[in-house]
Amino acid sequence: MSLGFPLFPESASTTSGQVDALYLFLVAISAFFSLLIAASVIYCAIRYRRREPDQVGSTFHANLLMEITWTIIPLIIVLGVFFWGARVFFVQRSTPDDALRLTGIAKQWMWQFQHPDGRREINELHVPLGQPVEIRLISQDVIHDLFLPAFRTKTDVLPGRYTTLWFEATKPGTYHLFCAEYCGAEHSRMTGQVVVLEPGAYEEWLAGGAQPTLPPAEAGAQLFTDLTCDTCHIEGEGGRGPSLHGIYGTETELADGSTVVVDDGYLRRSILTPADQVVAGYQPIMPTYKGQISEANVLKLIAYIQSLGDEAPPGGTRPAASPPARDPSPPSRDDDGSSAGASTEETP
Ligand code: CUA
Repeated sequence: MSLGFPLFPESASTTSGQVDALYLFLVAISAFFSLLIAASVIYCAIRYRRREPDQVGSTFHANLLMEITWTIIPLIIVLGVFFWGARVFFVQRSTPDDALRLTGIAKQWMWQFQHPDGRREINELHVPLGQPVEIRLISQDVIHDLFLPAFRTKTDVLPGRYTTLWFEATKPGTYHLFCAEYCGAEHSRMTGQVVVLEPGAYEEWLAGGAQPTLPPAEAGAQLFTDLTCDTCHIEGEGGRGPSLHGIYGTETELADGSTVVVDDGYLRRSILTPADQVVAGYQPIMPTYKGQISEANVLKLIAYIQSLGDEAPPGGTRPAASPPARDPSPPSRDDDGSSAGASTEETP
């Protein structure tokens, strides 16, 4: 449709067509019923108008067939809209496995993105064409919201919690990105550009960074040593903190008997407020890093811990990929962490 002004932003992702179709259906059905109701009102007002000054209206009894009809038809329509909407929602909320994983940090009033090879950019986001891209987001201050209209996707960016969005761009070009949550004086200027490049051009762009950058996992490894995390979290058994090898994505038991999945959110909480969820068998002796470590550095440490999942610890034979089967009653540990029975995590 070319009306001289755009009714819709460009449609440039694999899911934007689905969102538009649903949206257009809702508009069409609203328009249809608005017209139907307005026409009925006008028709009845004319057809049944009072013709004599002393005319009395006739009585009317309920028509069961009519009542059932106007209940069933809207019910079918709204249930259809519900399931259709749920389908689109689940597609938009389920990142494909082969997605390129980026991270993004929002702060008043800018967007920082980091690519898997370490390249960073501000208020610009370069992505390859035809590949799913996931962005893991967190805010360093207040609530923001990353909105990519051409890809028909958005998500709140919250302080203290990771959120993600994904898209797969289908057209090269430059598109707007916005903050869609009022976040202070310069909210309206918290905008930027998404640049969709052909895969080769994206690789070239990645290689063309001004300063050399470390992939987040390597930067995290350095940070891990700099913050002396490695004095307690040693490989294998015997550390004052649990070994971090292969824990990413697994379930671990906590001191209070509950279990938790070791994901980004849990790792972040464990770094910033370590006493809240202590792993079973360990003492709450880890100092808090709240206020001492930026969100960007938390993401690096998480990337490093995640990377430990892919390599077995020296001498270890445990497969790294899938969560290890846990012994229903893990052996207890001494306070200093040197357990009589090795943890189930480490036993081949
Ligand atoms: Cu950030 Cu509005």
